[in-house]
Amino acid sequence: MRFLSCVVSAMLALCHISMASDTIIPRSTQPNLTDKLAPKIMIVSMASADLLQFGPEAEVWYRNLPSSGLGDLLALNISVPGLSPKYPYVHCTAEGAVCQVTTCEGEINAASTTMALVLSSKFDLRKTYFLIAGIAGVNPKHSTIGGVALARFAVQVALQYEFDAREMPRNFTVGYVPYGTKQPNSYPTIFYGTEVMEVNQALRDLAYNFAIKAQLADNDDSRAYRSRYKPAGRIWAPAAKGPSVVKCDSATSDVYYSGALLSEAFDNYTSVLTNGTGVYCMTAQEDNATLGVLLRMHIQHLVDFSRAIVMRTGSNFDRPPPGVTAYEHLLVLQQNGFAVAIENIYQAGIEIVKGILADWDKTFEAGVKPCNYVGDIWGTLGGYPDFGPGSITDGQPVSPAV
Ligand SMILES: *[C@@H]1O[C@H](CO)[C@@H](O)[C@H](O)[C@H]1NC(C)=O
Ligand SMILES: *[C@@H]1O[C@H](CO)[C@@H](O)[C@H](O)[C@H]1NC(C)=O
Ligand SMILES: *[C@@H]1O[C@H](CO)[C@@H](O)[C@H](O)[C@H]1NC(C)=O
Ligand SMILES: *[C@@H]1O[C@H](CO)[C@@H](O)[C@H](O)[C@H]1NC(C)=O
Ligand SMILES: *[C@@H]1O[C@H](CO)[C@@H](O)[C@H](O)[C@H]1NC(C)=O
Ligand SMILES: *[C@@H]1O[C@H](CO)[C@@H](O)[C@H](O)[C@H]1NC(C)=O
Repeated sequence: MRFLSCVVSAMLALCHISMASDTIIPRSTQPNLTDKLAPKIMIVSMASADLLQFGPEAEVWYRNLPSSGLGDLLALNISVPGLSPKYPYVHCTAEGAVCQVTTCEGEINAASTTMALVLSSKFDLRKTYFLIAGIAGVNPKHSTIGGVALARFAVQVALQYEFDAREMPRNFTVGYVPYGTKQPNSYPTIFYGTEVMEVNQALRDLAYNFAIKAQLADNDDSRAYRSRYKPAGRIWAPAAKGPSVVKCDSATSDVYYSGALLSEAFDNYTSVLTNGTGVYCMTAQEDNATLGVLLRMHIQHLVDFSRAIVMRTGSNFDRPPPGVTAYEHLLVLQQNGFAVAIENIYQAGIEIVKGILADWDKTFEAGVKPCNYVGDIWGTLGGYPDFGPGSITDGQPVSPAV
């Protein structure tokens, strides 16, 4: 329904930014893109598993894509300087419509691989859809292990001062304090610019409509751990149910935190940073970094930031079920969510890939016009952020470097 209202407002020309702005690029800065591969979709995977040749988030695509009729991702292995030494190739189908890159985990790996990819001379990514597709920690209030979430916001929750909880003032609920403030959960007054990334909601909603066609995987082991959340009742009801596709947001932190208190604190902080509109739902270590690079490269007209999709599947709960300690939950018990989370990256993701390819000529080549604000906390791409202290460029997009 949101998409419909976006279409209506697009027709009424209420969408306040147009991301298709080739006309404002000075000719001298137009890169020579002849002969480059121009994939329609770039799948961005993260997870590594040290004993395997490929990370499991990538392998699920290599293994399954041929049976979808869309080709073999191992048909073209394209070496790109600056990728992770562990995953030095971008993999593409023979005709180059679908490609996949593995960044490796964490914010540093995600940012540096994405930057190397976009600056590579081998690709023209100006019309490419980026499907960030990885496993995540999951908030039992909104989804479950094996559940699939499509985000509007990526929020860098741990970008704060931190005290060890044993040394924090007694009146604090958590040892994290937003930059420039003196109390947890205050609105920060010092910004790095990467605190919140808002992606194209109209595209997210289209991706959701594709993804809900998927038959999501599930198994008895996952069901067994989920059932431990039942005693919590209504508040954690989504945790106890089978997997589904939901619309909710992604928190980024290099710190792999776990437990009720930090999860609640970062839930609170997501709400603070997004001025009450973000829904803390999935937790991972990369999205904000990947999006931060796409944002910078959008300024240079090398990618279109409004073509980024953030999809996460729950592999473990961010906090324990009733009667289980945070320690046991993370480090002793088996949550059994990994296999279904990996499988559902493909099950939901392939529907999004198919949907974009099937409707390429009519809809996706030209781009899906965003109706929400799209970009970072500073208004870097133009427009006025619906969170944060306001545009620092008076609503204008930052000009590309020449
Ligand atoms: C662009 O690159 C192609 C292939 O490398 C080359 O043949 C062509 O002359 C270049 N065009 C311009 C305008 O530099
Ligand atoms: C691409 O790399 C994979 C993994 O090493 C390999 O199995 C495949 O044969 C390679 N493809 C080509 C065309 O060389
Ligand atoms: C996510 O990236 C965007 C774009 O750089 C940035 O504005 C935002 O602050 C980042 N969020 C976090 C939590 O890092
Ligand atoms: C919490 O404790 C700190 C440090 O003792 C103090 O400065 C601050 O005023 C207290 N905040 C509230 C709301 O009482
Ligand atoms: C989260 O916010 C709620 C409501 O303001 C507050 O009661 C709770 O203590 C906060 N939790 C943490 C861990 O900061
Ligand atoms: C977001 O909330 C902060 C703190 O209350 C406020 O200063 C800022 O103006 C709000 N931003 C928007 C876009 O509403």
